[in-house]
Amino acid sequence: MKRYLLRKQDNENLDVVLNEFELSEPGPTDVRVRIEACSLNYRDLLMKSGQSASGGEGDVVPLSDGAGTISFVGSNVTKWKAGDRVALTFFQDWEEGRFDMRYHKSARGGSCDGVLAEEVNAPQHSIVRIPDYLSTAEAACLPCAAVTAWHGLMERSRPMQEGDTVLCLGTGGVSIFALQMAKAAGAKVIVTSSSDEKLERAIELGADETINYRDTPEWDKAVFEKTGKRGVDHVIEVGGPGTLPRSMNSVAAGGSIALIGVLTGFEAPDASLFPLVTKNVDLSGIYVGSREMFGRLNEFLTEHQVQPVIDRTFSFDEAPDAYRHLESGEHLGKVVVSM
Ligand SMILES: NC(=O)c1ccc[n+]([C@@H]2O[C@H](COP(=O)([O-])OP(=O)(O)OC[C@H]3O[C@@H](n4cnc5c(N)ncnc54)[C@H](OP(=O)(O)O)[C@@H]3O)[C@@H](O)[C@H]2O)c1
Repeated sequence: MKRYLLRKQDNENLDVVLNEFELSEPGPTDVRVRIEACSLNYRDLLMKSGQSASGGEGDVVPLSDGAGTISFVGSNVTKWKAGDRVALTFFQDWEEGRFDMRYHKSARGGSCDGVLAEEVNAPQHSIVRIPDYLSTAEAACLPCAAVTAWHGLMERSRPMQEGDTVLCLGTGGVSIFALQMAKAAGAKVIVTSSSDEKLERAIELGADETINYRDTPEWDKAVFEKTGKRGVDHVIEVGGPGTLPRSMNSVAAGGSIALIGVLTGFEAPDASLFPLVTKNVDLSGIYVGSREMFGRLNEFLTEHQVQPVIDRTFSFDEAPDAYRHLESGEHLGKVVVSM
């Protein structure tokens, strides 16, 4: 069977290279999944450029997010059968409850093999059933981006409620899922983007207010004005140090910031964190989520018939082009590789 490997090249750079491989028999508690679609995340660019701490050593199958059909079950597998449509979890071993540092070793497409392959073996506890109304390609968009958005909005100190206001930074995978979930839950949503065209698309997807953060570098002031000088209840903070100071200005008293991303780097923000104290703000570090959260997300998506937004689909042979497309930043929502 074919798979891709994230492999160190002679010049020490990492590249995604096609590789022929004989997959071992699944263990007694494993299933074999015929992968039908994968999706890319910004993290996959970090892995490829060697910037991520939990990967970049090479010779790992890239991409965390994949979905397909079970083709074979191990002798002790009772919950699954051949023909079941499943998506794989981001963390192979984070099933439920609080995060534990040992789960880092099971982050697919980084610390352990991912899903950019025709077939993979997976422990039976590391997959979820695909909601019937979703295609396999749509389901392949969920494991990282959607679970992260769900965790940030719904699973921490103050879950999002009807009537809340949510601020989504940019129009990438996580932010567009957060927009869709927030609208489905009856929240008001402000979306920022570098592109007016993408903001138009965000309005079509339900955004109530939009701000072009290139044209309006002090976008926090615009958020403040658009919320009647109150601020937002939740920020989906995917930017990191370059955006966190303005996200702190944008959040309302008693609101929450889901600290998710590193689009502007990994350093400390150039700002005092004290406003978080005086405003009683919850700052939650979010690292994807557990299989249990994925299950709750799927129930919510099914109830509200949320349709993941696929920007563009590439074939398996075109996987390196899919990386380039994500890197270009031209996309809105998710970039998919379909087998
Ligand atoms: N902690 C976790 O578990 C977790 C999970 C998933 C993702 N992440 C992180 O979250 C971030 C987003 O990931 P993703 O996969 O959704 O990325 P993505 O699909 O590649 O989206 C990136 C988008 O972010 C926007 N953006 C870039 N720089 C920005 C800035 N300075 N201010 C506001 N928006 C900006 C751009 O939108 P426009 O083109 O509209 O401007 C860009 O298209 C990444 O840093 C990723 O590593 C973390």
